[in-house]
Amino acid sequence: MTANAQLMRNPARLEIAVTPQLFPEMCPIAEAVAAMADAGAEARGAVFTRREVVEFILDLAGYKAERPLHEIRMLEPSFGAGDFLIPAIQRLVNAWRVFAPAADASSLADCIRAVELHTETFNLTREKVICALVEQGIRPQDAELLANSWLVNTDFLLSPIDSLFDIVVGNPPYVRQELIPSALIAEYRARYETIYDRADLYIPFIERSLKGLAPGGQLAFICADRWMKNRYGGPLRQLVAERFHLKAYVDMVDTDSFHRDVIAYPAITLIARENSGPTRVAHRPAVEAEALTALAASLSLPDRPVEGGEVRAIAGVVHGPDPWILESSDQMDLLRRLEASFPTLEEAGCKVGIG
Ligand SMILES: C[S@@+](CC[C@H](N)C(=O)[O-])C[C@H]1O[C@@H](n2cnc3c(N)ncnc32)[C@H](O)[C@@H]1O
Repeated sequence: MTANAQLMRNPARLEIAVTPQLFPEMCPIAEAVAAMADAGAEARGAVFTRREVVEFILDLAGYKAERPLHEIRMLEPSFGAGDFLIPAIQRLVNAWRVFAPAADASSLADCIRAVELHTETFNLTREKVICALVEQGIRPQDAELLANSWLVNTDFLLSPIDSLFDIVVGNPPYVRQELIPSALIAEYRARYETIYDRADLYIPFIERSLKGLAPGGQLAFICADRWMKNRYGGPLRQLVAERFHLKAYVDMVDTDSFHRDVIAYPAITLIARENSGPTRVAHRPAVEAEALTALAASLSLPDRPVEGGEVRAIAGVVHGPDPWILESSDQMDLLRRLEASFPTLEEAGCKVGIG
């Protein structure tokens, strides 16, 4: 399908304003976006998250029905089949019924912004959202209005977003650069400072989501952990070091986090737009609802003392573009001492490579 046909079918795409007639020089980008919007699961990095893990991430981010969620704004930048979106909507409606029982459903119109590029997935999930709202007692016409206000079928990295968010949650797409049309990756590179070397698509997703946080806002993502240590993650680590607080890290390697077993090294990170501080760290929790609820509580309350062995607090994990050492404080102390006392291997004349 051409970009123009996409635009006619879905005016939300007008946000990126790339019709061949209007901006011929941008045609390759419009065509590339349209191609990605019709691409198969691998080309779009589509991997869906298990319900227990989603509930854990929502808890960790503070998107909890005990709070007046109707007063805060939440973003899901790549909602796929709605694995985050549907539970989040259920929490929102439950909170709204408790905190604002007299308010009209239309008052929820600005509470959620959720983006998905793949048109077929977008349409299916839109129907799911409407059904979920109706099941929660919202009138069908209001459910439709809310879905129209909340959901956008576009490229998250190219479309304008008009406000800041208190909470961002999700599982951004994993797409290697080789799978992205060259016109599109060039456009992403021009817009995102953290796309460096062979950075995967989830890198600019994290950058844009972080920059979209309101002061005090929090992002909780599950995604590959490679960027926390490797070369291409350097600029994104630098950005986190300069402007954010890595509050929590949960190593999810060898856990059943997804519906398909595809990501070799998944991790959950909680990053806040606030002054830096220690990081709470946990490794490979059991994917069970009760255990994860308790773990979210110990990870997300920085004032609560760390109890038992499951969670540890590590200071100084984030340090410029340096790789994050999240295994233990002892390892970190040793590394920092070695760094202070010796030159790097490269400075000492060694060549370091992969393989
Ligand atoms: C890893 S899946 C995650 C889905 C959902 N958040 C979840 O965890 O179950 C990534 C989703 O991002 C979508 N996607 C890929 N590129 C995108 C883009 N540039 N903008 C918005 N969505 C995109 C894919 O179609 C896919 O549905």
